[in-house]
Amino acid sequence: MHGRALGFAILLLLALSSPVWAQEKAVDNEGHQWWQNAVFYEIYPRSFADTNNDGIGDLPGITSKLDYLHWLGVDAIWIAPMFPSPHVDWGYDISDYYNVDPDYGTLKDMDELLAQSKQRNIRVLLDYVATYTSDQNKWFQESKSSRANPKRDWYIWRDGKGPGQPPNNWTSDFGGSAWKYDPATSQWYYHYFYPPQPNLNWRNPEVEKNMFDVTRWWYKRGVAGFRLDAVDVMFVDSQFRDNPVVDDKKNAFGDPVEREINDKNQPELHGVLQRLRKVADEYNAVLIGETWTNDIAQLRAYYGQGGNEVNMPMDFMFTMVNKLSPADFRKQIQWVDSSGGWPVYVLSNHDIRRVYDRYGDGQHNDQIAKLMASLYLTLRGTAVMYYGEEIGMENNDPKRPEDVKDSMGKVGWPTEKGRDGERTPMQWNDGTNAGFSTVAPWLPVDDRYKSYNVETEKKDPNSILNYYRQLLAMRHTNKALLDGKYIALNEDDPNVLSYARMYKGKSVLVVLNMSGVAQKVNLDLASKGMHATTAKTLLTSFAAPSQVNTGAISVEPFGAWIGETE
Ligand code: NOJ
Ligand code: CA
Repeated sequence: MHGRALGFAILLLLALSSPVWAQEKAVDNEGHQWWQNAVFYEIYPRSFADTNNDGIGDLPGITSKLDYLHWLGVDAIWIAPMFPSPHVDWGYDISDYYNVDPDYGTLKDMDELLAQSKQRNIRVLLDYVATYTSDQNKWFQESKSSRANPKRDWYIWRDGKGPGQPPNNWTSDFGGSAWKYDPATSQWYYHYFYPPQPNLNWRNPEVEKNMFDVTRWWYKRGVAGFRLDAVDVMFVDSQFRDNPVVDDKKNAFGDPVEREINDKNQPELHGVLQRLRKVADEYNAVLIGETWTNDIAQLRAYYGQGGNEVNMPMDFMFTMVNKLSPADFRKQIQWVDSSGGWPVYVLSNHDIRRVYDRYGDGQHNDQIAKLMASLYLTLRGTAVMYYGEEIGMENNDPKRPEDVKDSMGKVGWPTEKGRDGERTPMQWNDGTNAGFSTVAPWLPVDDRYKSYNVETEKKDPNSILNYYRQLLAMRHTNKALLDGKYIALNEDDPNVLSYARMYKGKSVLVVLNMSGVAQKVNLDLASKGMHATTAKTLLTSFAAPSQVNTGAISVEPFGAWIGETE
């Protein structure tokens, strides 16, 4: 072989065998990077697949399902925390950032998962829980050991207002005061979430250095990015001022409702995100934000100036549209689409009830699952799926307080039952425990699993699973769906949400009937500069002709029709 060719061949081999993605910086014609054209899929590791049959999902379980994910059309997975943890908050309380929890396997299993994913061109993102650690983390143990410990200032310690009184009125998101007294050193430490989740003090430069090193270490191992947990509460007011109390109402935990102006969204967090992004850029990695925002201005801030912060801040306001309301969705899509950043759509996750429950009417739930899939997977932007949505899993909420695993549900029962319902085991087949495990899983399998599971749905061409698969395939190949502009259509229609995705004179048309009544839709294309009168059907959730007249598209109750102008 010619010297240069040999060199190239060696480089290529190295690139293929190394789990690191840093070499690939390719953009498409529109300047879009890999993550803009990708479909992401969130995996809750405890509930995905159990290979050693202890009732708990594990990393080899994820590895064993990579072929399935590849078949489905997933480009990247985000694995919720799999680090060592006492599991007070099921992994969102990390005791060691440099290892894998024995429940889930070993670092070797992680390396195998990374290597196997790379072979299938699937990127792996981990969860970056950097706002707080577990109280079992050795950093906190040191910090707690004495006021003089060099790591004392790594966490937020304060004197009380008076005997038995916390430093201020801030409440925890999971109930009660956000301060916990430590009798050994006679000070209080701050925890926005559970008491065993002490917040790190990000004003201390050593914290920043150490936490940034965590990301470098994982990037070098082959991780392609992180989902950034709870960034909005990374900083608190440097003067520790009380939050204003809204009125005398109480929340689900019986605490006063506060306006969280001093314990949330402090401007300093953007500096950290910018610097964290610089590190990510060195590895061509991507950052997804758990970015709860009240309005578009706050969301826009997470993208940063010229896009120098979070690549993909998830728009949770979209998940707050909790009814099938075309008007509300239209408004939300319009806002995000015009925010200047690349939109990121999500419908459910391990904290947000499943689509089947939130939008289902109890009668047309399968149709509605396809309708919602057709929405977030055809918009301009990246979609983040949640495991099990593709087979129409529903929430399986605990019925008795003694069954609750999520501490939020333990504290808040019965008003707040917690999030176990959306975290139940993935349903792989119609066998014992839905093929998740041979023993009783850590959370009960939904009893609809006999019909709603991967194996059964694979065989049914009209299943929710096959609908998702076709949608994903279409998204990957159709230029208008990847790069096309979002154009709202028929904006006064109270029942049907319609839009076009226009790219170089070709348009994909999406017509979503959000009502329980059949509709005939006359798409007003002319007012948007489109002149097609007929369109080819690309995908529908009901039996539709292969060609339609754009002036009279019939859509069944809760039906979705997707077509292309000719
Ligand atoms: C955000 C995570 O998504 C959620 O599951 C967790 O309970 C909170 N962070 C607090 O740790
Ligand atoms: Ca296991």
